[in-house]
Amino acid sequence: MTAAKLFSYARALLSEAFLRLYMPYLRCRLGHLGPGAGIYGRCKISFPQHVHIGANTSIGPGCFLQASSQGHIIIGERCAIAAFTRIITPTHDPAVLPVAAVGINRTVEIGDDVWIGTGAMILPGVRIGSRSIVAAGAVVTKDVPEDVMVAGVPARVVKTLLPAELRFENGRRAILQKRKAS
Ligand SMILES: CC(C)(COP(=O)(O)OP(=O)(O)OC[C@H]1O[C@@H](n2cnc3c(N)ncnc32)[C@H](O)[C@@H]1OP(=O)(O)O)[C@@H](O)C(=O)NCCC(=O)NCCS
Repeated sequence: MTAAKLFSYARALLSEAFLRLYMPYLRCRLGHLGPGAGIYGRCKISFPQHVHIGANTSIGPGCFLQASSQGHIIIGERCAIAAFTRIITPTHDPAVLPVAAVGINRTVEIGDDVWIGTGAMILPGVRIGSRSIVAAGAVVTKDVPEDVMVAGVPARVVKTLLPAELRFENGRRAILQKRKAS
C-alpha cells in the first residue's frame, strides 16, 4: 500500500470516527437533529438549543448558524446547505442609537429540499420556501417563495424551477442509474 493510500485510508477512518462521536454529541445539544442529518467540521453554532435541523439535511464545512436567545433556525428535511453559508438571526433597530440599545432576534425558516449554494448569507426573519435554490454568494434579505432560484446581492428571483414532481422523478432516475453503474 502506498503512503498516499494509507494516508487517505487513515483520514477516512478518522472522519468516520469523528462523525460517529460528533453527531450524537450534537444531537444532545441542538434543538433537533433529524435522522440522517449531518454537520461537517468547522461549523460555528450559537444557541444550539434553538437550531432545528430536519432529517437527511447536510450542513457543509465552515457554516455559521447564528441562532439567538429568541431567534431560532429551523431547517427542513433533505436540504443541502453548502460550505460557508451563514444564517443570521440577531439584528438591531436602525432608528436607535447606540446600536446595542435594542437587540432584535428573528427566526429564520428554511423549507424542505432547499439547496443553498456556498457562501450564501440568509438574514434575520427570512423564510425560504421548499425546493427553492439560493445561488452561491447570494445575500437573502426577503422571503423566498417555493420552487424558485434566487441569486445576487440582494437576492432576486432569477428562475422558476421545474414542477416538483418532475424534479423528484429526475432524481429517482439519477439514483437508479447510479445504482446500476456501481
Ligand atoms: C444557481 C446555480 C445552481 C446556477 O444554476 P443554473 O440553473 O445553471 O442557472 P443559470 O446559470 O442559468 O443562471 C441563471 C441566472 O442567474 C445568474 N446566476 C447564477 N448563479 C449566480 C450567482 N451565484 N450569483 C449571481 N448570479 C447568478 C446567472 O448569471 C443567470 O443570469 P442571466 O439570466 O442574467 O444570465 C449556480 O450558479 C450556483 O450558484 N451553484 C451553487 C454551487 C455550490 O455552491 N456548490 C456547493 C456544493 S453543493
